[in-house]
Amino acid sequence: MLYDNLSINDKGHLAIGGIDACDLAAEYGTPLYVLDEDQVRKNCQTYVAAMKKYLPEGSMPLYAGKALCFRGIYPVIDSEGMGADVVSGGEAATALSAGFPASKLFFHGTNKTDDEIANGVRQGIGCFVVDNTNELEVLGREAQAAGVVQKILLRVTVGLDPHTLEAINTGRVDSQFGVPIETGQALAFTRAALSTSGVEVIGFHSHIGSQIFEPDSFCDQVDRLLDFACSVRNELGFVAGTFNLGGGFGVPYVESDPKVDIAANIRAIAEHLEAGCAKADYPLPRILMEPGRSIVANAGVTLYAAGGTKTVEGYRSYVTVDGGMTDNPRYALYKSAYTVLNASRASAPADFLCTIAGRCCESGDRIAEEIRIAEPRRGDIIAVLTTGAYNFAMSSNYNRVLRPALVMVSQGKARLAIRRQTIEDLLALEL
Ligand code: LLP
Repeated sequence: MLYDNLSINDKGHLAIGGIDACDLAAEYGTPLYVLDEDQVRKNCQTYVAAMKKYLPEGSMPLYAGKALCFRGIYPVIDSEGMGADVVSGGEAATALSAGFPASKLFFHGTNKTDDEIANGVRQGIGCFVVDNTNELEVLGREAQAAGVVQKILLRVTVGLDPHTLEAINTGRVDSQFGVPIETGQALAFTRAALSTSGVEVIGFHSHIGSQIFEPDSFCDQVDRLLDFACSVRNELGFVAGTFNLGGGFGVPYVESDPKVDIAANIRAIAEHLEAGCAKADYPLPRILMEPGRSIVANAGVTLYAAGGTKTVEGYRSYVTVDGGMTDNPRYALYKSAYTVLNASRASAPADFLCTIAGRCCESGDRIAEEIRIAEPRRGDIIAVLTTGAYNFAMSSNYNRVLRPALVMVSQGKARLAIRRQTIEDLLALEL
């Protein structure tokens, strides 16, 4: 099995955290998102422990809610000692309504609205990650009106290409995110921020991309941030005490993907930072990271009911499922590979070559192509692994397909965390 929390039980069914996937499907219906809370906790603990052990004091991971944002995740993140980043008023409201402390929230976004800024300041959001000068002005004004000094990080682009997917590569100079160092604009941005009333600059943020496996790109990022921080110190006399490195490490989706040793990667980044700071005679900054995918992806499994098989002679065989791009658009968008198995026949040989197709009227609605699973009969439960991140978060009602329920499993017990969408929900907003 790809992950330790998955096993095959004595009925030959897939078990998630020890719970029979077919029982879950029977009880809660399909499609169904299953999230193993114990696995989420383990993932959090890996980051928290390694960042505490290797990085300067005060360093910590912030959960990037964009990967999977719903109320039930926030008590888990909070109790594991992590902060969180939010990218919209909707994500902030979700976290706050679940009791997550506002002081541990970092508010991101490339175009925060005036209302989001005003509400965030009043709600006591711990830190805003300011993307640009337009936003800086509004934030300064709102903070002064509220009579507070708002802590901020300035988002800069370090001009790096970490060789990940085009769509999730964000560190290049030509980017809509943040302000570039290379053109001199980041220095001007910092100068402006330091003289804006109502805000206190605590450091810099940059994000180079997602699904990065090696520490090297992060080390390059540290070099560039450190160089920039030294210029800021020389030119403006300001010493930044926080570097936020953005998203976390990649995760394996299929056996051939690299496995990541998160603790070893963090250690490598820490050693690089220490050497760089010693050379530049720069005080060690605390480091923040914003892992999303590596906190929830491998804790998630999606369960579908197979509609049956269809063989187009001379071409290929299709297995249809009762979900698809509406609950997981990642294959349609990025051709992302997934591990799929027949959860009802998990110990039978995986020898049926097929393409898994969703139910939308669109030939791109696929979950995986040319993979092998045990040949399913109509009603068999098909499991797609590693769907905890960017699945529910990116789901849609295309073709008016209803959003699935989400069940959390922990210590051998399951509980419904998000109920299945109904036709009434679907029509509720229409006047
Ligand atoms: N921080 C910032 C500023 C980000 O933009 C992102 C991801 C993260 C943190 C979290 O990165 P992670 O640890 O999850 O790699 N929809 C795409 C992923 C888009 C990621 C966008 N930003 C996908 O499904 O692969």
